[in-house]
Amino acid sequence: MSNIKNDISLLPYNTFRMDVKAKIFAEYSSVEELRELLNQYRGERLLHIGAGSNLLFTKDFDGVILHSAMRRARALDEDGDTVLIEADNGLVLDELIAQLCDMGLSGMENLSYIPGEVGASAVQNVGAYGVEAKDVIEQVKAVSVADGTERIFTNEECKYGYRDSIFKNELQGKYIITHVVYRLNKRLEPKLDYGNLRSEVGESVSAMSIREAVIRIRQQKLPEVSEIGSAGSFFKNPIVSRTDFEAISNRLRDITVPYYEQEGGIKIPAAWLIEQCGWKGKIVGGAQCYPKQPLVLVNTGNATPQDIITLAQNICDSVKDKFGITISPEVNYI
Ligand code: EPU
Repeated sequence: MSNIKNDISLLPYNTFRMDVKAKIFAEYSSVEELRELLNQYRGERLLHIGAGSNLLFTKDFDGVILHSAMRRARALDEDGDTVLIEADNGLVLDELIAQLCDMGLSGMENLSYIPGEVGASAVQNVGAYGVEAKDVIEQVKAVSVADGTERIFTNEECKYGYRDSIFKNELQGKYIITHVVYRLNKRLEPKLDYGNLRSEVGESVSAMSIREAVIRIRQQKLPEVSEIGSAGSFFKNPIVSRTDFEAISNRLRDITVPYYEQEGGIKIPAAWLIEQCGWKGKIVGGAQCYPKQPLVLVNTGNATPQDIITLAQNICDSVKDKFGITISPEVNYI
C-alpha cells in the first residue's frame, strides 16, 4: 500500500531545508502502486522528487509530491567485460556506487558522494570529476504519467547533455523514471585527469581507492548535506562560443580567465566568475555563498526561499555586469 500523508512539511524532503508544506505526499513501493497513484491523482499538480537535493521549494506546494520507496538493484546480464545492473529509482545513488566499488565494478566511482537518488540522477545527468551519469547509463525505464504504460529509453533517446536530458525538456513531467540500467566494467578503466584526482588517489588505483579519493576531495570543498542545507552547485558552468571567449579575454586584459575546451564551446568555471565578483562568503538574510566553493549556495539555518532567490539573482546580475556572461541555476525552482 502506498504511504499517503496530507498537509505535511517538506522540511525532511529537501536538502536546502525549506520549511514549506505540500497538500499531499505519496510514497509508493512498486510500479503498480505508482500507476494507482497516477490514476487516483489525475488532474492534480504532480511533482516526483528524489532526495530533494537539486531543488528549491519557493513556496507551499499545492499538489501531490510523489516519492519512490523502491530501493533495490539487481544484475541483469553480463558478458566478458561488462555487467548490466538495474537499479530502482529510489535507491540512494551513493549506496549503489559503494556496493559496485565493493564488488570491484568500475564506471561510477568518480560519481561517489553525489547526493541524490538513482531516478533523479538520470534526469539531471549528474556529473563529477570527468564522468557523467550518461557515460554508464545503458537504458532508462519509465512510466507514462498520462496512461501508466512503460517505455524504455535507450541512452541516445535520453538526449543527454551537460546536466540535461529529454526529461528536463520536451518530456518534462510526462514520464517518471522507475529504473536505470547501467553498464559497468569488470576491469578498471580509471579516469583520473580531473583536477588533483590522480595525486589524491596515489599509487594504489582501484574503483574503491578512486571512490575514497573523490569523497575526500568533495568533503574538503562541498558542504555536507546532512549538516548544512544546500543543493550542491547552484549554477551551471556557462559555455560560451570561442568568439565570445576571445572578446571577454581581450576586454579583461589584465585578468587570465580559466577555461576548459569542450564540445560546443568553451566552459568557464562559474565558481571563478562568482569569486571575481566578490561573492565568496557573502550573506543575504539566511543564505550564503559558500566560502569553500562559491558555486554552492547554503542555508545558514534560517534562510527563506526568498533569501536564496535574492542572493542567486544578485550573483547572476553582477556576473552579467562584470563579464557580460549569463549564468543560470542548475537547481530547479518549484
Ligand atoms: N574555482 C574558483 N574558486 C573556487 C572554486 C573553484 O575560482 O573557490 C574555479 C577554479 O578555476 C577551478 C574551477 O572553478 O579550477 C572548477 O572548480 P571545481 O573543480 O570545484 O568544479 P566546478 O566546475 O566548480 C563542477 C560540478 C560539481 C562537481 C565538480 C567536480 C557543475 C555545475 N558543478 O563544479 O558538481 O562536483 O565540477 O567535478 O558542473 C553539483 O552539480 O552539485 C556539483 C557539486
